[in-house]
Amino acid sequence: MSERITITRPDDWHLHVRDGDFLKAVLPDTVKRFARAIIMPNLKPPVISVAQAKAYYDRIMASLPAGASFTPLMTLYLTENSRVEEMELAKQSGFVQAVKYYPAGATTNSDSGVRQWGSVEAVLEAMEQLGLPLLVHGEVTDPHVDVFDRERVFIEEELIPLVLKYPKLKVVLEHITTASAVKFVLTAGSNVAATVTAHHLLLNRNALFQGGIRPHHYCLPVLKRETHRQALLEAVISGNPKFFLGTDSAPHAQNVKENACGCAGIYTAHAAIELYAEAFESVGALDKLEGFASFYGADFYGLARNKDQITIEKQQVKVPLTLPYGSQSLVPMRSGEYLIWSLVA
Ligand code: DOR
Ligand code: ZN
Repeated sequence: MSERITITRPDDWHLHVRDGDFLKAVLPDTVKRFARAIIMPNLKPPVISVAQAKAYYDRIMASLPAGASFTPLMTLYLTENSRVEEMELAKQSGFVQAVKYYPAGATTNSDSGVRQWGSVEAVLEAMEQLGLPLLVHGEVTDPHVDVFDRERVFIEEELIPLVLKYPKLKVVLEHITTASAVKFVLTAGSNVAATVTAHHLLLNRNALFQGGIRPHHYCLPVLKRETHRQALLEAVISGNPKFFLGTDSAPHAQNVKENACGCAGIYTAHAAIELYAEAFESVGALDKLEGFASFYGADFYGLARNKDQITIEKQQVKVPLTLPYGSQSLVPMRSGEYLIWSLVA
């Protein structure tokens, strides 16, 4: 029999599932693998209130495959008009777990994001007191800053001052891509953690230009050079609980990716744990996968660890060229190519 590993069922601490018909297209992929996922609020319009988060939660639950056991962990989108009362309601709700910070203009549907930290001071103070985590898209938006430096500059100019100003605020630096981010997280207190995607562990920026321009490898923060990928790998296999799984699986229809101005996002939900296993195995550290995928995120959020398990086996499977996406299609990571690991049903 082929090699198998069984781990506690993982959770995805950063996921985009979109809305409407798209929910039914993408949720089954996540639900097969994960027990819970932190659901990003960058819909159009964004999810800014607890009432909107509840309605979105209900739409997700109504779109789950029959018999699925899955808990969406909802987030609110931080705007300059967010109010302290809404944070209190979020904490009391039991279904909103965190608040997402997007710098205005940084990425998909981020126009309602924050321009000046000064305008959210009271809200951040309230979150610090309530123990409501701030999930940070860590990039500056200044067009004069080189796109490959935007995460490092954000950390230096905005994030270090922020964590000094709110020393007890729980912060997750999302989808980290650089050695600077790893160093920042390691140096910060235990209230600061990071999620790491499978694509940033498996690909460096050469993947954007492999024999031509590759829109399906375009995401934000953009892929970085190999030394940074190595730093991320080292962080996730260190067993340090500050680094945990967040796919940032971000579906977009094929035609908006294969476009003169293609949008950012890589779809990995169809093979998420398989891709992470491949990354961990590439550095001989499969034994570190379970902590990263199934324990540290729950511990950081103060939630119980899952009790059931999943099994993956060493078995080559070909990824379809496209997957159905509402009335459209999407191109998944590894489209037309092989995965090394596969999920045992
Ligand atoms: O690649 C990305 N896609 N990065 C983000 O920050 C947003 C996401 C999306 O929503 O498509
Ligand atoms: Zn995201």
